[in-house]
Amino acid sequence: MKTFILLITIIIIIKYALAQNNNDYDAECVIVNKILQNGELNNCCQNKGVDCSDDGHIINISNIDSRPGSIPPEIENLTHLKQIYSYGKGLTGTLPPELGNLTSLEYLCFEEKNLSGSLPPELGNLSNLKDLTICNGQLTGSIPSSFGNLTQLRRLYISYSNLNGNLPSEIGNLLNLKELNLSHNNLVNSIPPELGSLTNLEYLRLSNNNLTGSIPPELGNLLNLNFL
Ligand SMILES: *[C@@H]1O[C@H](CO)[C@@H](O)[C@H](O)[C@H]1NC(C)=O
Ligand SMILES: *[C@@H]1O[C@H](CO)[C@@H](O)[C@H](O)[C@H]1NC(C)=O
Ligand SMILES: *[C@@H]1O[C@H](CO)[C@@H](O)[C@H](O)[C@H]1NC(C)=O
Ligand SMILES: *[C@@H]1O[C@H](CO)[C@@H](O)[C@H](O)[C@H]1NC(C)=O
Ligand SMILES: *[C@@H]1O[C@H](CO)[C@@H](O)[C@H](O)[C@H]1NC(C)=O
Ligand SMILES: *[C@@H]1O[C@H](CO)[C@@H](O)[C@H](O)[C@H]1NC(C)=O
Ligand SMILES: *[C@@H]1O[C@H](CO)[C@@H](O)[C@H](O)[C@H]1NC(C)=O
Ligand SMILES: *[C@@H]1O[C@H](CO)[C@@H](O)[C@H](O)[C@H]1NC(C)=O
Repeated sequence: MKTFILLITIIIIIKYALAQNNNDYDAECVIVNKILQNGELNNCCQNKGVDCSDDGHIINISNIDSRPGSIPPEIENLTHLKQIYSYGKGLTGTLPPELGNLTSLEYLCFEEKNLSGSLPPELGNLSNLKDLTICNGQLTGSIPSSFGNLTQLRRLYISYSNLNGNLPSEIGNLLNLKELNLSHNNLVNSIPPELGSLTNLEYLRLSNNNLTGSIPPELGNLLNLNFL
């Protein structure tokens, strides 16, 4: 009899644990359904543009803007996300600082004309980020110095926007950087000599800004550089 009760107890505990897990996954879908403006009970893992891992966590979202809208702060809870990609269908509003909580993120790409506001310094917490691309936006404000902490970054493209301020010298910490395109913004003052540390850089575009002064001689050290 005791064994029987124990068995029942174990079964109940296991069922309860599984239900808890399911709730986690459901909670992730609720957030994605809000972004995609789908019904709350929709199984988002079956949506086009949403990829889930084998254990049911959301890892990719592409074209999160299939319906116009903005990125809700609740996105901070999608902590398994590796990729966000959205292309030109009408994403509006600003980049929420909560994006900085998504520390599994490797690719963050927005090619969106109506994205505005500034780059949240919190993005500097994305320690696994390899690619940050934001094109054709209306972003203002400066490039946060915290971006110097994105040491896994291979590509940083923020062109055709309205960024202003200095090009921070901390960009010189991004030793894995291969491609840097900050063309067509309103960056001012001189190009920091620290960029000379970027020995893996293969592609550099800083044209169409208000950068003054000469190209620092340190950039002459960049043996891999093909395109300036
Ligand atoms: C996530 O998206 C990337 C790029 O589209 C793709 O290479 C990768 O296979 C996707 N992952 C999964 C699990 O679908
Ligand atoms: C986000 O996660 C926190 C902490 O786990 C939780 O309290 C909160 O309800 C979640 N928010 C959403 C919208 O799921
Ligand atoms: C951007 O916003 C304007 C004004 O609200 C709208 O007319 C235009 O279609 C939007 N552009 C995109 C690419 O969604
Ligand atoms: C997101 O990060 C902030 C600190 O930057 C923290 O206060 C908050 O609890 C985090 N949110 C979640 C859901 O982990
Ligand atoms: C993320 O970055 C911001 C600003 O750079 C910082 O204040 C915050 O403490 C960081 N949060 C975490 C969880 O590391
Ligand atoms: C970079 O990260 C370190 C440690 O994680 C932190 O102390 C520092 O404040 C960050 N730098 C910036 C500019 O956010
Ligand atoms: C990088 O800059 C060049 C020159 O301005 C531009 O032609 C190219 O489209 C840019 N790449 C991206 C991804 O914005
Ligand atoms: C860039 O320089 C031009 C010419 O000197 C000037 O008219 C313009 O206001 C400057 N823009 C910024 C953002 O400083």
